[in-house]
Amino acid sequence: KNIAVFVSGNGSNCENIIRHFAHSEDARVSLILSNRQDAYALTRAQKHGISTEVVSKEFFSTHDKIIPLLEKYDTDFIILAGFLLIIPDFLIKKYNRHIINIHPSLLPKFGGKGMYGMNVHRAVKEADEKETGITVHYVNEECDGGEIIAQFKTPLTGSESAEDIAEMIHKLEKTHYPTVIENIIKNTQY
Ligand code: GRF
Repeated sequence: KNIAVFVSGNGSNCENIIRHFAHSEDARVSLILSNRQDAYALTRAQKHGISTEVVSKEFFSTHDKIIPLLEKYDTDFIILAGFLLIIPDFLIKKYNRHIINIHPSLLPKFGGKGMYGMNVHRAVKEADEKETGITVHYVNEECDGGEIIAQFKTPLTGSESAEDIAEMIHKLEKTHYPTVIENIIKNTQY
């Protein structure tokens, strides 16, 4: 199976996924797609010799532009890893249960519009949560509202800064996201 990873920024998850699937018999990363030319994820992809494409918001939202591009890379699964554009409905329909996202909180808490990156960790801190974590979910029409596949938690003492929480979350993501993706790919019937 071929995986396209969609990114907008740093790309640490993207790189973990590339590394993980370099040794997998079930799938390979065939494309890194970014809506930002300056995403560091693109540098990481090139280092691993993975094809990259940069697309505008307009290109991404146009059926007859984005679908042929994904087909060019024989895309079976779309993995979101810090991708900040909304996924258009036609893509969600075409790739039903084949688009997976990771969110850096225990959804449904701290999800939805505006809840991304450090905003999430600051909100978790302000709410004085006793735990936080990550959620891997299918992508549907509702922002952060798709069916939950897996969650992993980490306790909070209250003394962590938002930056500390971000680091804890990245560790959880590194440990779990690639393996959860691999299990989904293995267990998905066509
Ligand atoms: C991750 O925390 C992920 O949960 C969220 O965006 C962040 C991306 O980080 N969706 P990176 O670009 O993979 O370093």
